[in-house]
Amino acid sequence: MSRKPFIAGNWKLNNTIAEAEELIQALLPRVGAVEDVDVVVAPSYLSLAAVVDSARGSAVQVYAQNMHEKDSGAFTGEVSAPMLTEIDVHGVILGHSERRQFFGETDRALQLKVPRALEAGLIPILCVGETEEEREQGDTERRLRHQVQEGLEKVPVERLHEVVVAYEPVWAIGTGLSATAEQAQETCGFVRALVQGFDKEAGNAVRVLYGGSLKPENAAEILSQPDIDGALVGGASLDAESFAAIVEAARG
Ligand code: 13P
Repeated sequence: MSRKPFIAGNWKLNNTIAEAEELIQALLPRVGAVEDVDVVVAPSYLSLAAVVDSARGSAVQVYAQNMHEKDSGAFTGEVSAPMLTEIDVHGVILGHSERRQFFGETDRALQLKVPRALEAGLIPILCVGETEEEREQGDTERRLRHQVQEGLEKVPVERLHEVVVAYEPVWAIGTGLSATAEQAQETCGFVRALVQGFDKEAGNAVRVLYGGSLKPENAAEILSQPDIDGALVGGASLDAESFAAIVEAARG
């Protein structure tokens, strides 16, 4: 089963529109023509339209960092799928641990968000991962099983393979302490097996990403693991050279 590598830069709460513009302009000459890797950047909502316009005609795809499950209504401060597709956004990160930890994101809401994104024509990246405490208590698999099963439960089986799942151990995010290649492979393999539990072929086809302190220095080793198809990159995606080096590592 050959799966196209997928490298996504999650810019989080960084970059004004002017700074986002500067970063995409620095990225385009480096990764704008890469066809053998799906290259994705996820700016803040306010920068999305500008970055989409700058990246138009290149191979770089632009994703949002979150989305509400409803299309419209009395949900102050939220953004919906039709608002994203109107400006030609390609996909959306859903269930990032920072949203779960700081903004009350729930598996219940994700159960609606993931199929809604697909229906609207957006590729969802469903993020899952255990905390340090859960890992220490031997609860990693139970936590991941719950997150993957809830997040994918309402996705029609024939569309499951379109979802991208990002395994991001919370203890590795922004800490400089990446999972080892062995840990990352073992857990991404477990995540794939969970998707295979829904549908064997979808599980074989689904892209599973690793995220958490991924840098040019550790990218090649982690990305060469059999069940790891790419990465969700935070800090290192804010620097064009570093992000381009990670994309290069994914080309093998
Ligand atoms: P870092 O690469 O900064 O650890 O962040 C990972 C992440 O959360 C990407 O979504």
